[in-house]
Amino acid sequence: MQPVTNLPPGSFFNNDIEAIYDIACKLPNSGLLVEIGSFVGRSASCWAQIFRQLGKKYRIYCLDTYHNSIDEIYRRSRNFEKYFRDNPKVMTMNNFEFIQYAVRDYPEIICVEFDLFKMSPKDLGITQIDCVFDDSLHSKQSIEKCFDDWYPIINSGGVYCGHDYDSNFPTVVNTVNRIAQTNDLTVHNKDSSVFYFLK
Ligand SMILES: C[S@@+](CC[C@H](N)C(=O)[O-])C[C@H]1O[C@@H](n2cnc3c(N)ncnc32)[C@H](O)[C@@H]1O
Repeated sequence: MQPVTNLPPGSFFNNDIEAIYDIACKLPNSGLLVEIGSFVGRSASCWAQIFRQLGKKYRIYCLDTYHNSIDEIYRRSRNFEKYFRDNPKVMTMNNFEFIQYAVRDYPEIICVEFDLFKMSPKDLGITQIDCVFDDSLHSKQSIEKCFDDWYPIINSGGVYCGHDYDSNFPTVVNTVNRIAQTNDLTVHNKDSSVFYFLK
């Protein structure tokens, strides 16, 4: 894997990037990935760069309410002063404008305002998909709703995955483990906070 570069701010680091690289290797050569919880596009930029490295043609939907204020974005991104220094115009943008600016070099990324509690794949006209990445609210309700809405439309050979499956987020670990048990799925997770189910 080559390094991913020029990432927007956020919390998605090397072990997680390597984990999604391994997932991307398992996916078909072309398809559709939906990310739920995109913030300002850090993990989405990683997915896009990794698919390009692998020569795989993917469309990537970035779904989020995009309700974070610039103060919240800045607060959650305090290690990324360089990004803000190099791109001062983002300080005047709202969340939706910010992500569109941050992912401007990836025409394969489509950003859509989406509340996972109020909307579902059919609101986007999506009937089948190859990969879902849940990095949204991390509550029991949000994790279950995401799984119930999106897992059934994943093609055979696809992947359902998510972030923050670690001891800092016990709700994620417990809810994902319960979903796996109920649906007779295996939770894959190694050396990172990314988990996945193979379909
Ligand atoms: C942990 S952040 C995502 C981080 C992102 N993947 C990255 O790489 O920086 C969680 C995101 O979930 C979004 N979110 C919270 N509630 C949501 C909901 N009901 N529907 C969709 N997105 C939601 C938040 O707006 C926030 O941007």
